[in-house]
Amino acid sequence: MMISRKLTVGSLKEKAKAMPDHSVIQKTVPSQLKRKPEKRAINKIKIIQNNKNYTVISNQKKSSLLDLALEQSQMLSYKCKKGSCGKCMVEVLSGASCLEAVTKQERETLKGNLERNYRLSCQAIVNCK
Ligand code: FES
Repeated sequence: MMISRKLTVGSLKEKAKAMPDHSVIQKTVPSQLKRKPEKRAINKIKIIQNNKNYTVISNQKKSSLLDLALEQSQMLSYKCKKGSCGKCMVEVLSGASCLEAVTKQERETLKGNLERNYRLSCQAIVNCK
């Protein structure tokens, strides 16, 4: 003889009430097992161009300071993107350690401004690790 049980909405509600309260279960998990969200260092490069301050946040990709700034809607002025016009020149206020070494093209275009923390944003490569 086969016993069949008919499920109704009411019978399911009864079982739902019998289920343990999930909030109680969460409270019983030892604190050592809970994962804390990983804190990632945010590397910011603060620059100034034409008396306007900009903050560029580096990501893990290697790209020019200008491209990164434009991706982040920081509207820096530029023209050639080849390192010859000097229009993209910025003064680095902080975060210079995230920039790769000055290129030969930058040296030629910036001349005396290198000592004053100026860089060509189209040539300066952001490489924070
Ligand atoms: S845009 Fe011309 S030197 Fe950078």
